[in-house]
Amino acid sequence: MAKDTISIINNSTGERAEYPLLKGSAGTPVADIRKIHQDLGFFTYDLGYVSTASCKSSITFIDGNKGILLYRGYPIEDLAANCTFIETAYLLMKGHLPTEIQLAEFNDAVNYRSAIHEGLIRLFQSFNHDSHPMAMMVGVVASLSAFYHSELDINNLQHREICATRLIGKLPMIASLCYRHSVGRPVVYPRADLEYCENFMNMMFSRPEEQSFITKGHYLDPVAIKALNLLFILHADHEQNASTSTVRLAASTGANPYACMAAGIAALWGPAHGGANEAVLSMLEEIGTVDNIEKYINKAKDKNDPFRLMGFGHRVYKNFDPRAIIIRDVCHEVLAHKEELGPLFELALALEQYALNDDYFIERKLYPNVDFYSGLIYKALNIPVDMFTVMFTIARTAGWAAHWLEMMASPVRPIGRPRQLYEGSEKRDFVPIARRGK
Ligand code: ACO
Repeated sequence: MAKDTISIINNSTGERAEYPLLKGSAGTPVADIRKIHQDLGFFTYDLGYVSTASCKSSITFIDGNKGILLYRGYPIEDLAANCTFIETAYLLMKGHLPTEIQLAEFNDAVNYRSAIHEGLIRLFQSFNHDSHPMAMMVGVVASLSAFYHSELDINNLQHREICATRLIGKLPMIASLCYRHSVGRPVVYPRADLEYCENFMNMMFSRPEEQSFITKGHYLDPVAIKALNLLFILHADHEQNASTSTVRLAASTGANPYACMAAGIAALWGPAHGGANEAVLSMLEEIGTVDNIEKYINKAKDKNDPFRLMGFGHRVYKNFDPRAIIIRDVCHEVLAHKEELGPLFELALALEQYALNDDYFIERKLYPNVDFYSGLIYKALNIPVDMFTVMFTIARTAGWAAHWLEMMASPVRPIGRPRQLYEGSEKRDFVPIARRGK
């Protein structure tokens, strides 16, 4: 057998075909089996895409066994310790760390596009006050294409960069309006003098009628802003996860970037993905006290019980989630300011320790993921629980935009079209309604 190939043999027919084994710059090699149907007459079955590489990418690298996460080659630990979210977004989208001038220009471009069209603000009036913020996010982000259609040529590099910057710029204002609409507060516009995370917190919580409150700006507390920047950096990208793959699949049809991002937001909403931090808080509230932990751990282990330990387990990280290690310390720092959240945090830590020492979780390599802690931090920053996934959306937009830009820059981008193993009826004779009986 030639080097760097694999052979696949159909044992029923003896037919054999050879395929290239592609090696990336790091990580598991990938067998290029695109011609397998043509050669051997069958498809491959990979439910949940656990062994399928759907694309080539240079953005993020994960080694799930070693707990490594790199954005454009830089360890997440270094970025978390030294960068802002905007610097990280630049890195993801452009592929290199910005110089001071490049960063200032990028900041200006993001700020310039941070306010949304007044028509989009009116769109919020159509939503019920009790709509879930993610329902509004999906709708409003998709609607960006109805308001900014003059720069929507996906084959035009300048248009593509404007679309990506616009998304990064506008997401905080859209997110803040999802909240303010639900509580009946007036719109707060972005301010060019505030940093990205400060701007978001100001648009969320500013009360223009209470000037002294603004000046004191308790929500602009440096510990809170640091934690927010950190969470946004940790959530900015994560390789070909469910929402990013959804963005790519939608983009493969040539759909506009706002529609693609809306598809990604919909995928992120689910409790198995971005909805996990919201689910962690609900779970902790349901567990209530440390005394109930054993009962709930047993529920999580019971296959007849749908209860799962939210914030535990990860499709890719099977030893530890490096983001969880970083965020755990910050969680302590933020919660030290919040005495009222002490019992909830203690419950979370007790649950974490219990599960980490339980054979069921050890055998299955189920460890706390980043969202076990992120919900606690958001709660400490007074972000309402139903806004948690919206927070994730702001951060992940940087990754989605980077993947979309990478995909659009590729000369080859076939439409994504998986196959299936059909298990339905074979061809049946049609029976007219009059002869179908009662
Ligand atoms: N609680 C209890 N048991 C679990 C959990 C959990 N949270 N997660 C996995 N298991 C069990 C499964 O029942 C299964 O057991 P079995 O081998 O006896 O059948 C085994 O561990 C493997 O689980 P899978 O579902 O096959 O693992 P998969 O990689 O498909 O799922 C997922 C990963 C979806 C994250 C899962 O662990 C989960 O639902 N966790 C809770 C939700 C969550 O925290 N999601 C956030 C992910 S991080 C993010 O999106 C940023």
